[in-house]
Amino acid sequence: MERFFRKQGMKGNSYKFLFGDMKEANLMYEKVYSKPIGVNDDILPRLMPNILDTVEKYGNYSFMWSGPRPRVFFLDPNLLKEVLSDFRKYHKSFKVINPIARMLVTGLASMEGDEWTKSRSKMNPAFQMNKLKPMLPAIKVCCEDMLREWKEMTSKGGGKSVIDVLPYLEVYTSSVLAQLMFSSTYTPHIKQTFYKLSELEKLGKLATDTFALPGQKYFPTKKNRRAKEIDKFVRDSFISMTNERLEKRKAGEDNGGINQDLLDIFIGELYDNDENLKDRDRRRIIEDVIAQCKIFFFAGFGSSSNVLCWTMIMLSVHKNWQVRAREEVVKVLGNKNEITSNDLGQLKVVTMIVNEMLRLYPPTMEFSRVVDEETTLGNYVIPKDTLITCPILLLNRSTKIWGEDAKEFNPERFAEGVVKATKGPTPYLPFGWGPRICIAQNFAILEIKLFLALLLLNFSFQLSPDYKHAPHVDFTIHPQYGAPLVLNEL
Ligand code: HEM
Repeated sequence: MERFFRKQGMKGNSYKFLFGDMKEANLMYEKVYSKPIGVNDDILPRLMPNILDTVEKYGNYSFMWSGPRPRVFFLDPNLLKEVLSDFRKYHKSFKVINPIARMLVTGLASMEGDEWTKSRSKMNPAFQMNKLKPMLPAIKVCCEDMLREWKEMTSKGGGKSVIDVLPYLEVYTSSVLAQLMFSSTYTPHIKQTFYKLSELEKLGKLATDTFALPGQKYFPTKKNRRAKEIDKFVRDSFISMTNERLEKRKAGEDNGGINQDLLDIFIGELYDNDENLKDRDRRRIIEDVIAQCKIFFFAGFGSSSNVLCWTMIMLSVHKNWQVRAREEVVKVLGNKNEITSNDLGQLKVVTMIVNEMLRLYPPTMEFSRVVDEETTLGNYVIPKDTLITCPILLLNRSTKIWGEDAKEFNPERFAEGVVKATKGPTPYLPFGWGPRICIAQNFAILEIKLFLALLLLNFSFQLSPDYKHAPHVDFTIHPQYGAPLVLNEL
């Protein structure tokens, strides 16, 4: 394989038996995570030390070894777009990564071919703006509940308090998800399920544990046992929610019409055919419902909460932008009680800030595809089982694409929209690209913008002296030592 790559002009480290580049990668991560960095330092060497090392040494068409599996990097927007466009040829890589990660990345995100097309087309309507707009009042209530809690905490500190904001932002995004998925408030049961999933995320450690030894999931390690326990809890939890919903619908408390939520879509086949289903088919459909619940829970809460968290951190550092955004929010929203998607659309400065944060701290810092057979891509022939990785974070911080200030926080670059912000064809892909683009991007932008708007109206904030800048990745980029900020109620 290595000779095959080299013959085509690609460069990389020589293969080392079984572990490939993974031992070095683990050592690199251990070293970079051992201490914090400066708030304006580049986060690339910390979050992608192995990929950066490969690309810097070997160039834009290079390879490395995720264990015995080759992984190639093409830092060429046209080739990446070709890969992301053809979902039938380039498959999601989740089936080939570590077994704990596979417990999390399930349902829609792990499906392929016709099965994926069928599932995605059933779910797409739930994410169209006409379906999301009526959710805004419920999302606003989730924001207000969260901000009220902060107000109670700050009032005890004389209007000023240090709060580690991330756990609260997670409560916000997961309570919004509870609305989207189950039309439910944030019950203790739903809360516990989220917490278990985030524990599984930490055990999964995608960045460093990309490869698994054959049969690894059967090893009776402490980590595997804990992962199995959590998985069982989460499965049981979704099975009970599914049964409860089926009972309700059968009893005529129907939620399957115009107001249907995601769970209604997931259980549609079960509800429509329940009486006639063979046991085996019923089990298959229930497995599918569990898998869909898991992926929407998992994909939904860490991504948006971390974007909000980094935005609060960056607006604490760049106070001029905090002030500018607040002035805009006051002007557009004033004392309005009802906030519409039109209002949010008028928040230009907030939009520029969100775009800049998705560029500098994209929750998904890379995504990969795998080929099941030898495949020609541009001038290259890619052998079967190779991973093709799109390192978004690296592209988002490239001076060639974004100009000399690429590594700096400067929302102004988005003043005239996303297309004009880059030099040349835009590889700005925080939500992915092509048919498998994030299904929930409109939803995510709404919940992020609404929260920022209400936050800016109610609080000013700055870094606490205890804050340590230490971006860290399990699946999403999050602050390794939390995000203690000083909040002042306005
Ligand atoms: C700022 C927030 C978010 C970002 C930046 C983001 C980013 C992404 C990216 C990059 C992908 C594509 C990965 C690939 O092509 O391999 C993706 C897929 C996906 N995202 Fe998001 N996401 C966000 C929020 C959400 C939320 C809130 C949900 C759930 C409500 C969600 C659910 C999904 C699902 C189910 C997929 C798989 C889609 C498919 O394969 O058809 N995401 N997301």
